[in-house]
Amino acid sequence: MTKENHDTIIVLDFGAQYSQLIARRVRECGVYSQIYPFTISAEEVRRINPKGIIFSGGPASVKAPGSPRPDKTLFSLGIPILGICYGLQVMSEMLGGNVTCPEKKEYGLQNIDIADRTTELLKDVSDKSQVWMSHGDSVDRIPQGFRVTATTPTCPFTVIEDSSRRFYGVQFHPEVVHSAEGDKMIRSFVLDICKAKADWNMGSFVSDAIESIRETVGDRRVLCGLSGGVDSSVAAVLIHKAIGDQLVCVFVNNGMLRKNEAESVLELFGKHFNMNLQYADASEAFLSALKGVTEPEAKRKIIGKLFVDTFYSEARKCGDISFLAQGTLYPDVIESRSPSGGPSSTIKSHHNVGGLPEDLKWQLLEPLKDLFKDEVRALGKELGLPDELVYRHPFPGPGLGVRCIGEVTKERLDTLRDVDAIFIDEIRKAGLYDKIWQALADLLPVKSVGVQGDERTYREVCTLRAVTSEDAMTADWYRMPYDVLQKAASRICNEVPGVNRVLYDISSKPPATIEWE
Ligand code: XMP
Repeated sequence: MTKENHDTIIVLDFGAQYSQLIARRVRECGVYSQIYPFTISAEEVRRINPKGIIFSGGPASVKAPGSPRPDKTLFSLGIPILGICYGLQVMSEMLGGNVTCPEKKEYGLQNIDIADRTTELLKDVSDKSQVWMSHGDSVDRIPQGFRVTATTPTCPFTVIEDSSRRFYGVQFHPEVVHSAEGDKMIRSFVLDICKAKADWNMGSFVSDAIESIRETVGDRRVLCGLSGGVDSSVAAVLIHKAIGDQLVCVFVNNGMLRKNEAESVLELFGKHFNMNLQYADASEAFLSALKGVTEPEAKRKIIGKLFVDTFYSEARKCGDISFLAQGTLYPDVIESRSPSGGPSSTIKSHHNVGGLPEDLKWQLLEPLKDLFKDEVRALGKELGLPDELVYRHPFPGPGLGVRCIGEVTKERLDTLRDVDAIFIDEIRKAGLYDKIWQALADLLPVKSVGVQGDERTYREVCTLRAVTSEDAMTADWYRMPYDVLQKAASRICNEVPGVNRVLYDISSKPPATIEWE
């Protein structure tokens, strides 16, 4: 992303799980936001010239030797600063306050008492508003010039400020949805305190991204693995807009696609987009490599390696390639980010192609890696993708391979394809498809006894799962109406020869994940 011509709020990353969520909340205010490692120099910040700075939370203790500290000159630039959790603590400590490490840590929901109604940060927030706390250390002395504007029964310095220098600190996490009015606080900081112009939207994202892709790629060529899912489709269309025919898309049939998937992707992209699209039917290679393999990680590795091998062999057909493009999103990256390495430090790729080799001979191009799924959907709409694609449920890169628990065989995949198609069909008929984040079916590695037409059967067991979610990082099971479950189950047992038992999965994430493996 580039930021020319936009007012910017920068987020300094102290290793928080939530830095990107903070940036996203700023974007929701219509203001451009970019994350930087906390090590950024004041010089560089001066060059960026942001309207405001947000210090993220982080796992460290400010009292620990070597704990992350920002450049202290940042406090003399005259730029407003909001410190969140660790950000509040580090600001307090560096400006002459004190932080302690009490034995009791504080996690969970609290209600704030607003101590001073003149504060701009909390002006739209109601008294007793719910906030989400997650901290070990606490401030026990605030720096000179600061005052307390909100407290909780257990935390006397919940919100503090020095409005003359425009420094603010909150001990809780306003960026998470559990902080009921956190978005209002961020909005007040960004728009009223920093006075940033709300001139950023998906249209600006598109033009910024196009510019940045052109700059990165130059006159080189990019290969994009197109799965027909939302993420890779949006990435491909965006990159295509930027570099046209320098992009080659490869659609790999790995033998683990949904029913009629290959046909519909080819038809959709053939019909709607004028892209270089190569179809690689590698299903036999994938299935023979998976023969006899049951361990989930081993499966993913095999699938990932074969994807790359297929990309390599397809690339040979189209000349020099310098980049591999993927539709990696922020939630795909989050778990593997290193605390102080900043936004581009580590890329977790297994969520896209099952694990890329360390010696991948291309650079990665991941233009969506700062975005959340709903932002990618908004981007897809902005780029003119059809609704049927934009609102598709997510589908994993390794496909039905991660839903065929136990051995992956052509026969079991055919069974699973039929089960999945019926389940999705019933959900669509009931008008529920768009209410659900993701619906899926799995085949379990057990058989069970049944009876059909006076005959004993011994067949596969399938589970159906549907979840609601905001971003796939947490999910709840969908309360599917019984009659939809009943219709799906009875059709599955009647129409799919290999199955005689249907279960419905009622696990949330955590502790379960969305996919079974
Ligand atoms: P989990 O199962 O980790 O999944 O709760 C979260 C989201 O990611 C999708 N997922 C994958 N997507 N390759 C992908 O492209 C994968 O290997 C993969 N594993 C999980 C999953 O469908 C859900 O939307």
